[in-house]
Amino acid sequence: MKKYKITLLSGDGIGPEISEVSKKVLKKLSKNHNFDIEIIEKLFGGIAYEKCGTPAPEETLDQCKKSDAVLLACVGDIKYDSLARELRPESGLLKLRSALNLFANIRPVKIRKSLLDASTLKKEIVENVDLIVVRELIGGIYFGKPRGHITNTKIPKAFNTMSYDSAEIERITEIAIKIANQRNKKICSVDKSNVLEVSQLWRDTVLNITSKDKNISLSNMYVDNAAMQLVRDPGQFDVILTSNLFGDILSDLAAMLTGSIGMLPSASLNNNGPGVFEPVHGSAPDIAGKNIANPIAMLLSASMMLKIGLNEEEAAENLETAIDKVLSKGLRTADLADGSSEVLSCSEIGDKIMDEI
Ligand code: IPM
Ligand code: MN
Repeated sequence: MKKYKITLLSGDGIGPEISEVSKKVLKKLSKNHNFDIEIIEKLFGGIAYEKCGTPAPEETLDQCKKSDAVLLACVGDIKYDSLARELRPESGLLKLRSALNLFANIRPVKIRKSLLDASTLKKEIVENVDLIVVRELIGGIYFGKPRGHITNTKIPKAFNTMSYDSAEIERITEIAIKIANQRNKKICSVDKSNVLEVSQLWRDTVLNITSKDKNISLSNMYVDNAAMQLVRDPGQFDVILTSNLFGDILSDLAAMLTGSIGMLPSASLNNNGPGVFEPVHGSAPDIAGKNIANPIAMLLSASMMLKIGLNEEEAAENLETAIDKVLSKGLRTADLADGSSEVLSCSEIGDKIMDEI
């Protein structure tokens, strides 16, 4: 029997609630599909800071590196906003990405038919949305140096550096090409090359690499236009390839096309070594502990983990079908509730999904 070792980082806020659902679902899938899954839980985020004084303890990072895949819920809380930057949960997340060299962040945005009416946009605009944001994850302005505060000026001043070298752009472009080749073979590279040198290098490098694959059709878009086009006509996109900061912003925007950011999974990958699979949403401290969170984005992340991280394609399909069945029965968590749906708690919708597996 195949045996997998998973590190589960349940983190902060609603993290523990949605992780409970994911654990149960993974156990059931492993029984039904004949594989063994060992789930090792580790401290990460604000909770790790509270217990160990750092949001990404070495022990947690080591365990992640030793696993077949990492499943992460979410981190963060406003109560940590006053901490030194390196002690905040978000810095822990950046440290994990960088420690595992997770340069490629994949965020699929697909409309589930039963949720067409949940979008804030008109049905006709969103019904054909099926796109993937491929975001560079360990470079750009998030990690660029120098960065910091300048204190010897008359008024306070701070700065960051947005930089890429061509090798960083090449490797993320290769990932986008691989993904596009399994889909409609269209890549839209998003940058701000009308203003930024780093974006000009991005554009030139992407063109250079993609032109080697004759199957790929490449277009380029400035990021401001891309934001507009994602709302105006999101169905035009297949694969959106972009840098760390632009990808962060555009993926939240794209998430809302589906009706709720509570529906969006993501995978952060390296060319070898374990990936991290996590929902796009945050820790929602305002609803934490109330058992009303939507566990589906984390379940869809678990499904990406099964498919991409563990090669358990059938189990992944089983899970996605179970989720669709529950949604098509009109069962919803509060974030997706419309007049006609039955509103369930986080654990209840988890149990309904379990029943369909
Ligand atoms: C995301 C998040 C993170 C990011 C934060 C929490 C550091 O917004 O995964 O999109 O900016 O990358
Ligand atoms: Mn984000």
